[in-house]
Amino acid sequence: MLVIRWIKKGAFKLIVDSILVNAKVYLNKEIVDCSIAIENGEIFKIGKESQMPKADERINLGKLLVLPGLIDAHVHLRDEGKAYKEDFYTGTAAAAAGGVTTVLDMPNNDPVTMSVAALRNRMQKAEKRILVNVGFYSEFPVNLGEVAAIVAEGAVAFKLFMATQIGGLNIDDDKALQEAFIKVGELGVPVAVHAEDKALLTENKEKLKRANKHDPAAFLSAHSEQVEVKAVKRLLEISSESNVHLHFCHISTKEGLHAVIEAKKAGRSVTCEVTPHHLLLSNFDVERYGMMLITMPPLRSSHHIEALWRGIADGWVDILGSDHAPHTLEEKSASSIWDIKVGVPGLETMLPLMLTMVKKNRISLAQVIQLLAEKPAEIFNLKDRGRLEQGKKADLTVVDFKQKFKIAASNFHSKAKYSPFDGWDVQGKPMKTFVNGQLVMDEQEIIAKPGTGRIIRRDRK
Ligand code: DOR
Ligand code: ZN
Ligand code: ZN
Repeated sequence: MLVIRWIKKGAFKLIVDSILVNAKVYLNKEIVDCSIAIENGEIFKIGKESQMPKADERINLGKLLVLPGLIDAHVHLRDEGKAYKEDFYTGTAAAAAGGVTTVLDMPNNDPVTMSVAALRNRMQKAEKRILVNVGFYSEFPVNLGEVAAIVAEGAVAFKLFMATQIGGLNIDDDKALQEAFIKVGELGVPVAVHAEDKALLTENKEKLKRANKHDPAAFLSAHSEQVEVKAVKRLLEISSESNVHLHFCHISTKEGLHAVIEAKKAGRSVTCEVTPHHLLLSNFDVERYGMMLITMPPLRSSHHIEALWRGIADGWVDILGSDHAPHTLEEKSASSIWDIKVGVPGLETMLPLMLTMVKKNRISLAQVIQLLAEKPAEIFNLKDRGRLEQGKKADLTVVDFKQKFKIAASNFHSKAKYSPFDGWDVQGKPMKTFVNGQLVMDEQEIIAKPGTGRIIRRDRK
């Protein structure tokens, strides 16, 4: 009961926890001057300052812009056996610094998240250390009979990695995949896929290795366009008899995106993600800068990049995800391309880069909010988040839309202090991040205690 919650410290006055005043707030696709009252971690009221209740704390935002807290559905937080690359604290600090209030954690960990025990253990470890909200993916277990128990434990979705065998489900076995999709479809849990075809990729790699090719160009040709397209088409085919919702991570090719669009037009329950690095960097950058830009799927030529931007403009691309994939600099510096760890950190650059694209009229602010808050909340059933509305969780991303600055990877909160965007001039800086009503990041400084973020367990439909 709201009235009871207003009664604080024995006083029968209507006092909420905090009000944010003098803000510009993104509401119903418009930016309006208003204030936000926060009570018990939720948005209590949005309106004029004169209509705000009394509050314990009054924060003057000095006309900064308040956006719904961003949701990054593609983050590798690492920790446990891979804590030397990133841990729950540093990864979620990077999120808060980047204006991201909720991340979904990928399962390719040590141990791989693919059992009730591994998931429970990971949640327990994370709980005391996280600064933003974290939901967890699980890979498929060896025994599909355990799928329901993993969902009951609170996994937000399953992840299927098709480039190499990571989970317990044999990715070469169409029948097993089909059975898994039927099972997960019945449970109403989405499956996010890394769509690169293992067989074709392995064949390409072996050929290149035999020809003694181990430079960035060889990596690009191994991870060819066809490697992605083949996996997308195969998965759409295998899942066609089930109710599963397939979510394609980091689509990078024109034809891959078109296969997804065709499936959508045919009424299939399918969504897709694009990353900022696939939108803003190209194969030429890989050949020039080498190891830093080695990521999977790889960066592509302008013909693909244009198709991805068009997919965003036409509303076919559902979400943006950073695919924050931190490694140590040593791991990124191996002399052979085949030994380099693939992936780039992205949590602290995604929002400034996208706001810069808004300034350049490449994308609208409404589209950025849709791709980074509203749609991920919908796809992953995060009912209390993704929009600025009374009753939703008070996850807020406060930005200075005017501020110009240079990306400086050495200042990252992530353990991975490098970036393909290092030194880029951007406009639009995350200034404050509120998570469940608490100020976690203020002017790039983390000011909250570890454990401020919540573990997000999937709501039963
Ligand atoms: O570049 C990548 N890095 N792609 C992946 O799919 C995995 C990720 C990682 O975990 O480092
Ligand atoms: Zn991936
Ligand atoms: Zn990833």
